[in-house]
Amino acid sequence: VVADLKGLKQGGLRLSTITTAKYVIPRLLGPFCQRYPGIDVSLTVTNHERVLENLLHNRDDLYIVSQTPEDIDVSFHPFLENPLVVLAPRSHPLAGEKNIPIESLADEPFIMREPGSGTRKAVQALFERHGVSVKVKLDLGSNEAIKQAIAGGLGLSVLSRHVLALEGLNSQITVLDVQEFPIKRYWYVVYPTGKKLSVVARTFFEYLLDEGKEIAQKTSLQGVF
Ligand code: PGA
Repeated sequence: VVADLKGLKQGGLRLSTITTAKYVIPRLLGPFCQRYPGIDVSLTVTNHERVLENLLHNRDDLYIVSQTPEDIDVSFHPFLENPLVVLAPRSHPLAGEKNIPIESLADEPFIMREPGSGTRKAVQALFERHGVSVKVKLDLGSNEAIKQAIAGGLGLSVLSRHVLALEGLNSQITVLDVQEFPIKRYWYVVYPTGKKLSVVARTFFEYLLDEGKEIAQKTSLQGVF
């Protein structure tokens, strides 16, 4: 009977996620799509502001964000931790130091995500709270490009720890132990309150919060060193 039900789950699934979820969601989709071969997925990966725009226009079934929207009524479910950490080149003088004061970051050239990014918003809010003003040398619209820029010695940045997922032990970048970091955050699965999810969307939603969570936890630990 279960097999029959699985066979009946057919149709399209539309997901809209913030940039950091791309390190995890595709991994979860593998086993999911194997189990439900009749489901075709469309996954949009973009920044926080654009995901909210998609949500506002009801373009997708489910959305993954790190900050729940203030002005849209949504049902939200925390799915996995998504902490923000300070990244530096491995050869940086502060690498390996303990408990670095946050004010030290003001002396360093800084690389910031683009306006509209949730990462940027969280980083700016923390610096403002502590009266730290960093010298932003570069605005970059891609976590991967920022990692390359850090490795290239352009400056430091604050990004989700998940961007380290694909880095090996020989990575040229490292996490600095700075006070007030990591900034603790979560990924949330959200959809408009009252929206009736399709059978396919409901199936993925349940998978995500159950088995998906476990796979994600394992994946996310691989890049941490
Ligand atoms: P962003 O979101 O791509 O909008 O910066 C990523 C995150 O908040 O983890």
